[in-house]
Amino acid sequence: MASAETIVVIGAGVIGLSTALLIQEQSGSTQSVLLVARDFPSDTSINYASPWAGAHYRPVPGSSPQALREASQALRTFNYLKQVAAGEPAAGIKFLQGIEHLETPPPEYLDAQSVSNVYHFEDFRSLKDDEVPAGVKWGAEYGTYVINSPVYCAYMLRRFILKGGRTQQYTLVNSKEAFALANNVKTVVNCSGTGFGDPKSFIIRGQTCLVRNPVSATITRQNADGAWSFCIPRPLEGGTVIGGTKQPHDWDPNPSPEIRAQLLANASKWFPFTPESGGQFDVIRDIVGRRPAREGGMRLEVEQVEDGKSIVHAYGAGGRGFELSRGVAEDVTALMLESGLLRVQAKATL
Ligand SMILES: Cc1cc2nc3c(=O)[nH]c(=O)nc-3n(C[C@H](O)[C@H](O)[C@H](O)COP(=O)(O)OP(=O)(O)OC[C@H]3O[C@@H](n4cnc5c(N)ncnc54)[C@H](O)[C@@H]3O)c2cc1C
Ligand SMILES: *[C@@H]1O[C@H](CO)[C@@H](O)[C@H](O)[C@H]1NC(C)=O
Ligand SMILES: *[C@@H]1O[C@H](CO)[C@@H](O)[C@H](O)[C@H]1NC(C)=O
Repeated sequence: MASAETIVVIGAGVIGLSTALLIQEQSGSTQSVLLVARDFPSDTSINYASPWAGAHYRPVPGSSPQALREASQALRTFNYLKQVAAGEPAAGIKFLQGIEHLETPPPEYLDAQSVSNVYHFEDFRSLKDDEVPAGVKWGAEYGTYVINSPVYCAYMLRRFILKGGRTQQYTLVNSKEAFALANNVKTVVNCSGTGFGDPKSFIIRGQTCLVRNPVSATITRQNADGAWSFCIPRPLEGGTVIGGTKQPHDWDPNPSPEIRAQLLANASKWFPFTPESGGQFDVIRDIVGRRPAREGGMRLEVEQVEDGKSIVHAYGAGGRGFELSRGVAEDVTALMLESGLLRVQAKATL
């Protein structure tokens, strides 16, 4: 029998947690998982994207390799989250109506094939001209999900620990360090989000506003100037996220009061908050987060380092980390199986 080996997963955002859980489910008794991160679900740091996410699922049509890969990951995540939501109300996932209103839809929205490639919902329906507000050129509705992001991350961490997963709060300064954090580490999985040192990585600042006012659907509106407005109810009475900006390379950590005022003014015009609120919002807090983006999309690959050691990279999910999370975790474990880094648990021992 091989001596016990530790697989180190770096990062406890939605990508690291999803990946650590799946490795833990699939690996046999000769491998165990140590989750190492600077920030865990109870922490709030500007450089820890996951707790700041909306988060809702909205497909993105396109034909680039990145778009096709993400469509597959998003579909698998959708099917997985449906099961989780049905079995675990405390996970913070809720299925509800999603509505989209686009004022200047990009060409891929006007091609029926490219739309049906990613809008896989059984209940998908294009909205007719008389069903959308003035100025909207493309509209659709379908059943999607919303996630209370901090609650879902805490739920995954809890599951990981209950199944015997180990955690360590630690900030790595050199990638070689990860191999020294436990005995017999051969594989390190790098789910560090923005990470550091990859010239293709960059951040996209997002400012949103969390309010108490309830809303019954998640609605996304693309404005003529390219700005996106959305409302995302957070399950388990988490309020409603009103957003939001997408500001590449903007490192300002502070919420702008002007942006907040615009977000709320737009939301009161376009989203069906209850009439009693009279356009007034009961603000819980401003949110500023940094989406861990990367040119060309996520880095998902195995890097061989010295003497039989490997790093499996899984970072750079940008603005879609929750939507892609389970698919990414499956792709990571598939890569690990192919490269012989993961030894699957024999069915007989289950
Ligand atoms: C305003 C806003 C709205 C969003 N809305 C949505 C949405 O609707 N749907 C959606 O899917 N996504 C949404 N996102 C995007 C989503 O938040 C990210 O894609 C996701 O959180 C990325 O997860 P991650 O695990 O890759 O990174 P992170 O959550 O940033 O986690 C990175 C982890 O790596 C650790 N780490 C980094 N460096 C080190 C180091 N040197 N040593 C040790 N640990 C380290 C960190 O501590 C952390 O634990 C939104 C984001 C924002 C900001
Ligand atoms: C993880 O990826 C980042 C790039 O974002 C890199 O700087 C870091 O060294 C990587 N960590 C490991 C252990 O390879
Ligand atoms: C509010 O809506 C207008 C379009 O009416 C848009 O130009 C602007 O960017 C939006 N503001 C924000 C912060 O989303």
